[in-house]
Amino acid sequence: MVLHCLPRLNLGNWPTPLLYAHHLSSVLNCPIFFKRDDMTGLGAGGNKVRKLEFQLAEAKRLGATHVITTGAIQSNHAHLTAAAARRVGMQPVLALAGTLEQDARGNLLLDMLMGAEIHEVAPDPELPPLLTMNRVMDGLADDIRAKGGVPYIVPEGGTDVIGSVGYVLAVEELTEQLKGISEAPIDHPLLVAATGTCGTHAGLLAGIVHYGVDLRVIGVSISGNTRIKEEKTKQVAVETLRLLGNERNIPDDLVVIEDKHIGPRYGEMTEEARFAIQLVARTEGLILDPVYTGKAMAALIDMAKRGELQHYSPIIFCMTGGLPLTFFHGNSLLVE
Ligand SMILES: Cc1ncc(COP(=O)(O)O)c(C=O)c1O
Repeated sequence: MVLHCLPRLNLGNWPTPLLYAHHLSSVLNCPIFFKRDDMTGLGAGGNKVRKLEFQLAEAKRLGATHVITTGAIQSNHAHLTAAAARRVGMQPVLALAGTLEQDARGNLLLDMLMGAEIHEVAPDPELPPLLTMNRVMDGLADDIRAKGGVPYIVPEGGTDVIGSVGYVLAVEELTEQLKGISEAPIDHPLLVAATGTCGTHAGLLAGIVHYGVDLRVIGVSISGNTRIKEEKTKQVAVETLRLLGNERNIPDDLVVIEDKHIGPRYGEMTEEARFAIQLVARTEGLILDPVYTGKAMAALIDMAKRGELQHYSPIIFCMTGGLPLTFFHGNSLLVE
C-alpha cells in the first residue's frame, strides 16, 4: 500500500514545530532541538494523535459508533483517544486499570470532561494485566454490538501497525525540517524518544528504513522488560514496512533501547527525572512530564554528561506530551 493512500483523518496540526533549545544546548554542550509533538493540537496534545489519525480513519471506514481503549487511570493515550473519538463524533469508552480517584485530576479529569464512558478494572491475580484489559475491552465491544452499535478497539498505547504509520510520516516531516536548520550541522542526527508500548519507536524505525535517511533513534524505556520491548519494537516496525509494501528488514543494531532511567516502576518519579523537568523548565520554559518525557530527558542529560552524544548532530528530543501528568503529580515536581 502506498503510504499516502492509507485512510487518514486530520486530527492534528502538522508539521509540529522543530525548536532549537539554545540554553539547554549550551548547558549540555551539544546541539539540542525539541520536536514539539506535545503541540499536536488535540486535547492536551501528544504523540498518540499521529497514530489516532490512521486508527480512527479505519474506525470510520468500518462504520464505528464507539471507540474503546485501555490504559492506566492516568493514561495520556486514553485521554487522547477520548478526544479523537469526540472529534469524529464517536462515543469514547475507556477501560482503565486501577482505582478511580474520588477527586479526578490530570488525564482522568479530562476523560470525564469529555464524557467518556469509564470502566474501572481491578487486577485479576490469575491473568497478566494486559490480558485482563483486553478481555474487558472485548466484553465492552460485545455489549455495544448487542445494543446495535459498532465498536472499534484501539489497543493499549495505540500501538499497532496502522498507528505506527503516523510515525513513519513523522520521519518524512522531520527530514524536511532538518534541511532548514541553521543552528547546528547535520552530521548523524539522533532522535531521543520515550518508549512505552513501542509504537512510536517502531514507527520511527520503519520511517528511517522506508525513506533510507541517516537518522538514529534511542528509545528511552519507562517500564517493563527491555528484551521484550526490543522484540516488539522490531516486529511492529517490520510489519509497518510490510503494510507499506516495503520488504526491507530492520537490522538489530538499529533497535536501541536505553533502560537505566525507568526507576522503581512505571509512573514513579525519579530524582533524575525531577532534575530534568526542572532544568528544561528553567532553561527553555518548556514542560516535560514525570512519567515519559522527564525520564527520557534524564537519559539524554546522562548521555550528554558521559560524552556519549558527541558523534551526533543535532540531538532531537521527541517531546511526546503528557502535560496533564504534571498537574497530577503536583508539588512533588518542586522538591529540590
Ligand atoms: C507522553 C508520552 N510519551 C511517550 C509515550 C510512549 O509512546 P509509545 O507507547 O508509542 O511507546 C507515551 C505513551 O503513552 C506517552 O503518553
